[in-house]
Amino acid sequence: MTDVDTTARSTEEMIGRADINDLAEILAITNTDVDSLMHRVQNNADAIFTWDYNTDARPGLIRLYEKAKRNQWNASTDIDWSIDVDQEKVAQEMSIANAGLFSGELDLAGTPLEKFSEADWIRFGIESQNWTLSQFLHGEQGALICTAKIVETVPWIDAKYYGSTQVYDEARHVEVFAKYLNEKLGGNYPINAHLGLLLDDIVTDSRWDMTYLGMQIMVEGLALAAFGFIRQITTEPLLKQILKYVMSDEARHVAFGILSLKDYYTELTQAELHDRQEFAFEAAVRMRDRFLQQEVWERMGVPVKDTLEVVMNTPERELFTQMLFTKIVPNCKKLGLLDAGDGWLRTKFGELGVIQFEDWADTEAEYDDFSLDAERAPA
Ligand SMILES: [Fe+2]
Ligand SMILES: [Fe+2]
Repeated sequence: MTDVDTTARSTEEMIGRADINDLAEILAITNTDVDSLMHRVQNNADAIFTWDYNTDARPGLIRLYEKAKRNQWNASTDIDWSIDVDQEKVAQEMSIANAGLFSGELDLAGTPLEKFSEADWIRFGIESQNWTLSQFLHGEQGALICTAKIVETVPWIDAKYYGSTQVYDEARHVEVFAKYLNEKLGGNYPINAHLGLLLDDIVTDSRWDMTYLGMQIMVEGLALAAFGFIRQITTEPLLKQILKYVMSDEARHVAFGILSLKDYYTELTQAELHDRQEFAFEAAVRMRDRFLQQEVWERMGVPVKDTLEVVMNTPERELFTQMLFTKIVPNCKKLGLLDAGDGWLRTKFGELGVIQFEDWADTEAEYDDFSLDAERAPA
């Protein structure tokens, strides 16, 4: 396959700012069509037929496909939707952590959080959870659209087979998060602007491997880490159950990205690889920026920039942000992207403060750890 667009762009051109940490510029990007029910994106890609039905070239992918066929679950019947969710209680448990975090470690005098009462922290906990799960919901729809695109654009039949299973997985994920938000929680949020721009970039790119890199490696890699983190800390049994099922699929999805791209990337030129490095870095910055929860602080009625300046400087916040990259960095290394050319991406991940995860486990074979097989067998 030919690579049609290798125009290198500077980081500033990509994400619109010279300093990736400029908070005022990060906050200046907001969602301008919050009332719109639809969002249209140009999908610049050729649909590729292949007449080569041989599946010997990538045995790992075929094993993954077989696994995916065995591990399908039904969102209506496998999840116990009878569980009642007391969101205030969950928020209260989380708010103790939040309030403790801020009041215990930081002097809030003179900050917008100075007069936050316990009730405010509980409301923050509820809004924060609604916001977080709403973004996961929108991200899942992004994955649904991207994997449908991969089925059309990837040139190999085994990847089309596997991609088709992921389309159904992602439909199920959209279904469970939408149901959880609508039936168990109290409301939802529009898509965060940074996440929206990232999904637009991924869908718009004409090169088939960019859909993989953006979605399977970057977005899914972050989701796997974030789901794992939330599953560990939440006290809410229904959410725990949902995340267990969703994660069993997501681990396969990241493996799909690695299995498909690792050989392909050995064939690319340095210029083409540099383009992938920049794309990965842009995605990383956009994902970091989306987790600032600016819309939640807006809804809480506090000045967003002043508040974020307090919140962003907590060690826990820094740890959370770094945790999001624990899968992405080793997976980029596995694909050869960290050190391609002059090691541009290694330098950039260093600036972002996440390069220390490079030798953590990559996700090519990790999917067995998340498998439902052990609990479900014999079927
Ligand atoms: Fe998903
Ligand atoms: Fe996924």
